[in-house]
Amino acid sequence: MSEPLRIAITKGRLLDDSIRMFQKAGASCSELLDPGRRLVLDVPELGLSAVLAKAPDVVTYVEQGVCALGIVGKDTLMEVGGSFYEVLDLGYGRCRFALAAPRGFSLSARRGTLRIASKYPNVTRSFFRSLGQDVTVIKIEGSVELAPVLGLADAIVDIVETGNTLKANGLEIVSEVAPVSARLIVNTAAMKLRKSEILELTEKCRGVLNA
Ligand code: PRP
Repeated sequence: MSEPLRIAITKGRLLDDSIRMFQKAGASCSELLDPGRRLVLDVPELGLSAVLAKAPDVVTYVEQGVCALGIVGKDTLMEVGGSFYEVLDLGYGRCRFALAAPRGFSLSARRGTLRIASKYPNVTRSFFRSLGQDVTVIKIEGSVELAPVLGLADAIVDIVETGNTLKANGLEIVSEVAPVSARLIVNTAAMKLRKSEILELTEKCRGVLNA
């Protein structure tokens, strides 16, 4: 019997949805449901060893080949890029990137260089490049909605799910930037070396997601 396939999974909301998907595919997920402080957990029914990691680290582990597979949001993939195969849109973790600003803000009415705060500077630069607009991007680590409230930025590019955080802080969507959802990514060498196991898992996931 071959070694389990190592799969890096983003901790938090995507992990909960991933557990549900694995359960539908026939796994009990007993270790994943009660991990304690452990970061490597077996999912024997699917031949997987799950590694719990922060989103950008999921990409690093898959790129470097220490994990054959990864589950990570499209937001992180758009921001950090990298070399891997994106094989499946898992459909969960659905939200969107949006440009948001205080009520009354208008992109066309602005003079001078806009200041845009974001946890995602590359996504932000690429969005404004597509508009042909020059902006100053200010990198913020979290609670980005604070930046316009405090007067640090004119607007933000951030993840919007329900829109409640924007609303509660007097902000509204100016423009949609890109849809986001969880993706299954695969290391390029693993795709050759363990192709049949990876394709089998991908098809199992696709099957339960479409059911
Ligand atoms: C994300 C995002 C928004 C919020 C949007 O933040 O950055 O702040 O969720 O969700 P909503 O539209 O449903 O209100 P997260 O909770 O990941 O924390 P962070 O702000 O520290 O990044």
